Amino acid sequence: MTEPLLRAIDVSKDFAFSRSLLDVVRSKPAKAVHALNGVSLDVKRGETLGIVGESGCGKSTLARCLVRLHECDGGRVVFNGTDISKLSGADRRAFNARVQMIFQDPYSSLNPRMTVRQILSEALRVHKMRPADQIDARVAELLDLVRLPQDAADRHPHAFSGGQRQRIGIARALAVEPEVLVADELVSALDVSVQAQVVNLLLELQDRLSLTVVFVAHDLRLVRHISHRVAVMYLGKVVEVAPTEALFSNPRHPYTQALLAAAPEVDPTRRTRRVAAKGELPSPIDLPTGCLFHTRCPHAFDRCQSDVPPLTSRGPGHIAACHLLQPEPLT
Ligand SMILES: Nc1ncnc2c1ncn2[C@@H]1O[C@H](COP(=O)(O)OP(=O)(O)OP(=O)(O)O)[C@@H](O)[C@H]1O
Ligand code: SF4
Ligand SMILES: [Mg+2]
Repeated sequence: MTEPLLRAIDVSKDFAFSRSLLDVVRSKPAKAVHALNGVSLDVKRGETLGIVGESGCGKSTLARCLVRLHECDGGRVVFNGTDISKLSGADRRAFNARVQMIFQDPYSSLNPRMTVRQILSEALRVHKMRPADQIDARVAELLDLVRLPQDAADRHPHAFSGGQRQRIGIARALAVEPEVLVADELVSALDVSVQAQVVNLLLELQDRLSLTVVFVAHDLRLVRHISHRVAVMYLGKVVEVAPTEALFSNPRHPYTQALLAAAPEVDPTRRTRRVAAKGELPSPIDLPTGCLFHTRCPHAFDRCQSDVPPLTSRGPGHIAACHLLQPEPLT
């Protein structure tokens, strides 16, 4: 489980910031939201990689760049050794099948006028996954795989609960036999009891089908439960990556430390929810210089305002970007 299958290399992504009419009249320069600011991250074959960080830190933007729903402005995303921005035609369609994204709200992406059979058959036909006479059998297999009853095939999406709809979304993603699933807030909209069922289904499928999973979520407890490794993002940058237990038991980056300290769910005996770090989250339109966390970091010193800290080794498979700690030899 060591070979990187999907890599983000120094990826950046800006969104044009819509100007008010007054700004346009006054010819104020257009501004941009710097959503990703040089993200580098490896997703290893067969692993589940969790991605966490405060709201607005760029998790969804990164997820969308990984599946090429967004084009990167800088850097590149590499799948199986190939820069995905260079793919076109049949190669691009093959990539789209091999790397599938599942969204928080599958209802909005499931056509309400189609039955589940039609939804799954369409995915099978578009990607030529099965000859016509084998499609019904494959639909039955897919329903089994996501633990939905066979009579679900002839019902419409509105007939299902949120958890069941999420299973239909997973079945549709699996129809094209992907290698990678990118799940963005897969269960955030579901009740806690249903969340556990869907997450356990994902764990089972990951093992059974040897899937590689990128699991983006707010809920640190869920991420800890499901992930082999976890990446922490702050203001569009990855600040720490580590094997899950190392990250939760020995976070090295001051931001990760603040994030974990603020999450009562990581330690159920702690009742109060503190803010992730002191001060306001800086605007992604006007990024701080140097270390992006310096305006809120309790350990900041002069160099933090001018020099960008690189990601360096902090232990086996553990990297963090902070000037404070001496790098350890790469492992
Ligand atoms: N399509 C877009 N147009 C303009 N700005 C965008 C767009 N998508 C994201 N942004 C901005 O980019 C930044 C990162 O957003 P993103 O949705 O990736 O964060 P996130 O970590 O997924 O947040 P959350 O945890 O709330 O889902 C935010 O400032 C957001 O407002
Ligand atoms: S580099 Fe400086 S500001 Fe950034 S996390 Fe480390 S100590 Fe804090
Ligand atoms: Mg998001």
